[in-house]
Amino acid sequence: MRKKVTVIGAGNVGATLAHRIVDKQLADVVVIDILEGVPQGKCLDLLEAGPIEGYDVKVKGTNDYKDTANSDIVVMTAGFPRKPGMSRDDLLNTNYKIMSDVVGKVVQHSPNCILIIVSNPLDAMAQAAYKLSNFPRERVIGMAGILDSARFRAFIAQELKVSVENVTAFVLGGHGDTMVPLPRYSTVAGIPITELIAKDRLDAIVQRTRDGGAEIVKYLKTGSAYYAPSAAATEMVEAILKDKKKILPCAAYLNGEYGIHGLYVGVPVKLGSKGIEQIIEIKLTPEEKAALDKSAAAVKELVAVINV
Ligand SMILES: NC(=O)c1ccc[n+]([C@@H]2O[C@H](COP(=O)([O-])OP(=O)(O)OC[C@H]3O[C@@H](n4cnc5c(N)ncnc54)[C@H](O)[C@@H]3O)[C@@H](O)[C@H]2O)c1
Repeated sequence: MRKKVTVIGAGNVGATLAHRIVDKQLADVVVIDILEGVPQGKCLDLLEAGPIEGYDVKVKGTNDYKDTANSDIVVMTAGFPRKPGMSRDDLLNTNYKIMSDVVGKVVQHSPNCILIIVSNPLDAMAQAAYKLSNFPRERVIGMAGILDSARFRAFIAQELKVSVENVTAFVLGGHGDTMVPLPRYSTVAGIPITELIAKDRLDAIVQRTRDGGAEIVKYLKTGSAYYAPSAAATEMVEAILKDKKKILPCAAYLNGEYGIHGLYVGVPVKLGSKGIEQIIEIKLTPEEKAALDKSAAAVKELVAVINV
């Protein structure tokens, strides 16, 4: 039997994510939104692309949670994106309201699903979903690190004029201005980038990575990035559905790992059919650890505001 993925939110990220999942034939897809007609229209359009693209999966747009029943994975993309000049944190209260409205319905209809959170501010929304769902931490995962790392990788590949496939990179910490790109753990064909890129250039690339989301918001003016974010969420969906045991940077609830307690922070995890199957602790220098702690403190401030 085919697996089932529900995408909450038929906006830019949600619709593009649905597109990627059906294109790869990973699962049947249900897209749900509060807007009447939008998920139905977009999904019918996707369905009609099937004969050309050659996918047979089902895709359904709806406003009714009954259609989402027994999903294996639910990806939460509902919520406002930021506008120029806004930080992700400015979305806290509005998106928390949406999260509170949605999570209970998801749990009621898909009590065994794995929840992937995309809505911003990411780490605080993942924490809210974890608390609201009462799911074990393995089944509530935030998407941010894959996207931030992909931006870092794209800039490194551009700088060195090499294939993106040669570049691996890690970005830890919260999905905000305090995120922690780790040049020491970033390589090109196994060679640490610290040996290939001069420090001033590397510092500029790190800063551009931190500002990667804002750079796109500034261009778009009315919304935020969605091609790379939906690609990142698809990688998580695929790793789980195919039980790939893939090591990816994701926001996970830490229970003492990295010396952080009771908080969602971006760290390397192993993703498989059970969700987060392992949290991987890598050795950090004192400077890197201080940067991660600073990032965690920023997340802590946000979750205190919404009291989750
Ligand atoms: N984690 C990341 O790295 C990352 C990257 C990109 C975007 N985001 C976040 O993802 C979210 C979505 O971004 P987008 O560009 O798709 O926005 P969008 O405005 O295009 O789409 C959001 C959709 O959510 C729907 N929605 C609102 N309330 C809802 C509810 N209660 N139930 C169901 N649907 C509801 C809206 O009707 C809209 O269609 C934003 O919060 C954005 O900041 C996160």
